[in-house]
Amino acid sequence: MAKNNKFHLQCKSCGETIDNFTDWFAHGQKCPKCGCIQADVMYYEDFSNLVKMVKDPYFKPRSVWDYFNFLPLLNRDNIVSEGYEGVNRIDNWTFFEDYAKRKYNINIKVYAHRQDTNYATGTFKDLAGTVVASVLKENKVKNYVGASTGNIGVAYSRYLAAAGISLTLFIPESSTKTQEAEVSTYGQTLYRVKGDYAAAKKMAKDFAQKHNLILTGGNFDPMRLEAKKTMVYEWLRVLPHFPTVFMQAISGGSGPLGIAKSCKELEHLNVFDKMPRFILPQPHRCAPMAEAWENAKKNNFPQGWEKEYPIYENPETTIVTLATGNPNAYPPLAKLVKESEGEIISCVEERAADVTRLVAYETTMRVGPAAAITVVGFLQSLRQRTIKEGDVVMLNIGESTWRSPEYVAGLSYSTQTISSLDQTELIDRSSYRQRLWEAIETI
Ligand SMILES: Cc1ncc(COP(=O)(O)O)c(C=O)c1O
Ligand SMILES: [Zn+2]
Repeated sequence: MAKNNKFHLQCKSCGETIDNFTDWFAHGQKCPKCGCIQADVMYYEDFSNLVKMVKDPYFKPRSVWDYFNFLPLLNRDNIVSEGYEGVNRIDNWTFFEDYAKRKYNINIKVYAHRQDTNYATGTFKDLAGTVVASVLKENKVKNYVGASTGNIGVAYSRYLAAAGISLTLFIPESSTKTQEAEVSTYGQTLYRVKGDYAAAKKMAKDFAQKHNLILTGGNFDPMRLEAKKTMVYEWLRVLPHFPTVFMQAISGGSGPLGIAKSCKELEHLNVFDKMPRFILPQPHRCAPMAEAWENAKKNNFPQGWEKEYPIYENPETTIVTLATGNPNAYPPLAKLVKESEGEIISCVEERAADVTRLVAYETTMRVGPAAAITVVGFLQSLRQRTIKEGDVVMLNIGESTWRSPEYVAGLSYSTQTISSLDQTELIDRSSYRQRLWEAIETI
């Protein structure tokens, strides 16, 4: 494929230009000059046109594809979409604003980016699904290979199926039966690898090499980052204030990398003061980035601090979608967190159910396990005072409980088993509220 007049890729390390995705794939998704696996997609369209678009009250996007000029696709005919990707509800969670005022005497705004309203898989991985499937289709890719702990695998399975592309997916031993079945029902091939996520990734890499196929690009994949950056466009379009804090549970870390790319692209246009602080929670049984960050902070960020991180073999987290034990995105991600004056924190996994119950009680939205870690992290950050007076907090709620029946099974709290009518009483649902709030007091 020749040069095009819409975009090119640029190596983040040496600045080399790669003309298009065909060349990027042909070079093994690396810079042909220096071998770096990180590249930014650079657009020729002026981003002030994007700002005009999002500030136009009559602009009502139906999916991220209404941001076509800022996505790495040349021909709209190649769009693979189930509709609505990335155009989600952003709810104002006033019950947490009241809590922050009541308990910590601070005034904050709290928004929940309801990515569970993505239609195809009910997770924010629909964004990557639609963009990756479309770019692969445009570049005539017929087979794709990947490893996944869950959500991204399901999203790729569905979107690639819609594009007629075969996916071979390697999942770790601990992946749930539900995730496995979801992939399988789209007619994609699945291998459950005896071992952890790192073992599944290694197997996927070897398989791709053996058959000379394209492997999913991981957390630095420019296609994925381009998809996720559109979250910022939606904040600009919908919210009265730009977030000062962005929170998302991290596994590999591609979410915040995408947000940062977007902020850097738009920063000269004066549509926000500065990039939000990234406060990124991990579940405590798989928190290598939080551990590394804590150590670096304790030692006052010595020279080369970002290159020091532990690797967990077979992390036994109960939040299986967040089971990245070898966090190879840590160096750039941690630098970004520091630049933003943010934090990476470890959160007790067992508290996830408490926040899911409370949020469901207050809003009827059921926060899935990975997203619940985001909410636990929010409450923890309030206590640690890293969320401050005047903050506008954006919680990326990346999934509902939809695909985690095992998690749902552990959530009920208002049941009693009875054998006679005498054992029953009429209970007002408001009587449960206090118990639910008490449960989160100690987070
Ligand atoms: C709901 C949800 N939240 C967060 C994550 C972590 O995403 P990342 O670290 O790639 O940004 C995932 C990844 O699978 C997820 O499914
Ligand atoms: Zn390079």
